[in-house]
Amino acid sequence: MPDACVHDTPDTPQAPPCTLVIFGAGGDLTKRLLMPALYNLAGGGLLDEKFSVLGVDHNPLTDDGWRDDLTKTMDSFTKDPSAEFHAERIDPRPWGFVRDRLHVMQGDFSDEATFKELAGRLTGNVVFYLAVSARFFGPVVEGLGKAGLLKQTDDAFRRVIIEKPFGSDLASAKALNQTILAQGEEGQFYRIDHFLGKETVQSLLAIRFANAMLEPIWRRDYVDHVEITAAETIGVEERGRFYEPTGALRDMVPNHLFQLLTMVAMEPPGSFDAEAVRDEKTRLVTAIRPVTPENAVRGQYAAGREAGKDVPAYRDEPDVAKDSRTETYVALKLEIENERWSGVPFFLRTGKRLADRRTEIAVHFKPAPFTLFRGTDGGDLAPNVMRLRIDPKPGSATHLNVKRPGPQMHLSVIETGFCYGDFFDPAPTVGYETLIYDCMMGDPTLFQRADTIEASWAAVDPLIQAWKDAPVCFYPAGAPGPKEADDLLARDGRSWLPLGDTRTEDA
Ligand code: BG6
Repeated sequence: MPDACVHDTPDTPQAPPCTLVIFGAGGDLTKRLLMPALYNLAGGGLLDEKFSVLGVDHNPLTDDGWRDDLTKTMDSFTKDPSAEFHAERIDPRPWGFVRDRLHVMQGDFSDEATFKELAGRLTGNVVFYLAVSARFFGPVVEGLGKAGLLKQTDDAFRRVIIEKPFGSDLASAKALNQTILAQGEEGQFYRIDHFLGKETVQSLLAIRFANAMLEPIWRRDYVDHVEITAAETIGVEERGRFYEPTGALRDMVPNHLFQLLTMVAMEPPGSFDAEAVRDEKTRLVTAIRPVTPENAVRGQYAAGREAGKDVPAYRDEPDVAKDSRTETYVALKLEIENERWSGVPFFLRTGKRLADRRTEIAVHFKPAPFTLFRGTDGGDLAPNVMRLRIDPKPGSATHLNVKRPGPQMHLSVIETGFCYGDFFDPAPTVGYETLIYDCMMGDPTLFQRADTIEASWAAVDPLIQAWKDAPVCFYPAGAPGPKEADDLLARDGRSWLPLGDTRTEDA
């Protein structure tokens, strides 16, 4: 641990009293992420005494039964270090705080009676959390609107958190926006993208705009290209039913990868005011030239090996068609048509069952002028690369050229960097804490606005349409991706940073 270890003790105010209504109370998201997030918020003293949760589920659940189930699930996290939330022990104080405030009711999401019952039970501030399948987003918001549950007063806010996927293409996203905005104001809707709940994604703005040495070179005059990678080693797991009609493009690109893209490429906002930030994001996404199939690769994993074990092909996963053409991998070349980035390609790739678990942004700078080092044994001057690492080990690493010790001028590339964990206590978060807290506080900065979502879908819509019947290229599970993705960069004389390269992990 360096001497300059910093402990963050912000004076964060408590959220106002409110009821959190969770549609999908018995679902996976509630168990895996929402409850741990509430537990962490309670642990930080950020929930008001009058905070409460009302779960709604189509299955019959009782308050006591639900409390017991969730207590068991929370306990099970102590035995599973690979869970999104893991703790050595569950502290009975914060968990007791949450547990005692849990209530549940049975209700059909498309039945008027559910919303009538809710209207009879709810007063004051309410956050409605739609932890349900996307097909219920519209019906639930309509149900809330018709029952008068979205009417706000000076003393009571009514807000709705909507999970992803928000639409499945441009037309459906527009239609969903229209449906929900017929029931309430834009400011009441909080469209979630959990990448924005990641501390290190939020920190990208600080890295860019709080360090004067970076901003002048963060543009086309100095940057050659940018790589954005979200590589996973896991397969589709038990999510075949969701994944089959979705695929990697819809699942990851216009949402998560574009969030990383906006953070790394947007213009500095005038302030951290939510609308100032979201205006800049929309401006950036609107400047993306719509992607065409020539600039894209779609892949699907075949059988292979992952972590020393044989793993099946995507087509042999549960709930997946034997002749499925759903992509589990996508690589894109994006062009951004604005003053800062014109001519700088942004290469994005994401996939499942790849050689490495890694989410990062790599900014490749143009090489230094060669003249001074001509004739030395430096080989080609390696361009500087700044890697901003999000997962699994958040931090940053920059490749620099230095002189190798010895009598002659020989160059070597070294890596210099830092890990967040070396400077800050690892915060016990699952990423949803900030999002739930911000919604209760009425701060939509980390949520997607209607226009940003529509602009994002617009950028990939030509590809979605063109890919309706397109074949996929196969890659063996455990590989860095299909060969065609390498060709996409090779065409421009560039190559991806290797996946599976662990050098930075040791930096
Ligand atoms: C989800 C996708 O939104 O993000 C998953 O539906 C994906 O398919 C996940 O695995 C990746 O998130 P993270 O935080 O694990 O990188």
